[in-house]
Amino acid sequence: MKTGEILHRFKAKDGREVILRTPRWEDLDDFVELINSLVDEGADIVTNRKVTRGEEADWLGRRLAILEKNEGLNLVAEVDGKVIANSTLEKGKGITSHVGEIGIIVIKGYRNIGIGTEMLKTLIIQAKKWISRFCFSGSFPQTSWLITSMRKLALRRLDGDQNSSTKTVNIQTM
Ligand SMILES: CC(C)(COP(=O)(O)OP(=O)(O)OC[C@H]1O[C@@H](n2cnc3c(N)ncnc32)[C@H](O)[C@@H]1OP(=O)(O)O)[C@@H](O)C(=O)NCCC(=O)NCCS
Repeated sequence: MKTGEILHRFKAKDGREVILRTPRWEDLDDFVELINSLVDEGADIVTNRKVTRGEEADWLGRRLAILEKNEGLNLVAEVDGKVIANSTLEKGKGITSHVGEIGIIVIKGYRNIGIGTEMLKTLIIQAKKWISRFCFSGSFPQTSWLITSMRKLALRRLDGDQNSSTKTVNIQTM
């Protein structure tokens, strides 16, 4: 996929216009702000240490290369010209190449207005072309949120019963 490609536009529950698109180089400073604000909050994410602009540039460079080779996907949410959320799809390798691992973060001030759920839906629609199963790993509140959103999107869970909370949730797409 191309960088900066717009995939979906919608109105959030508070009326704000949201664009879901692939990332581009110009998003670098917004990415630094997004990740460091979650670290400041003490959110349960992949890192608990603030990133430097250089580190984030390395990460973004890798993600843009992955995107262009169709080996994975990132979708950002843009509101008023600013990236306020990011979602990642990591494609498995070898015998797990049909499985995609999903990650979603939304900056404070933009939560609970439907952005995470819409990103989940759009990410799955895009990645379904090359992936048949998805998994999501996180802390209890994150997987609990995911199960709530899956219900809204009529996505089926492969493991456990529909309501039980675990650290990893496997999602089946039809
Ligand atoms: C988790 C996260 C990705 C969700 O994205 P979001 O855009 O805020 O979520 P949405 O607006 O799409 O979904 C909100 C819905 O999920 C529900 N919800 C929120 N947290 C929930 C939880 N822990 N368990 C169950 N449902 C939850 C809300 O009540 C809301 O329901 P409603 O639409 O019926 O009112 C986002 O909040 C985030 O990045 N948080 C970072 C901090 C974190 O990890 N917090 C712990 C998870 S809440």
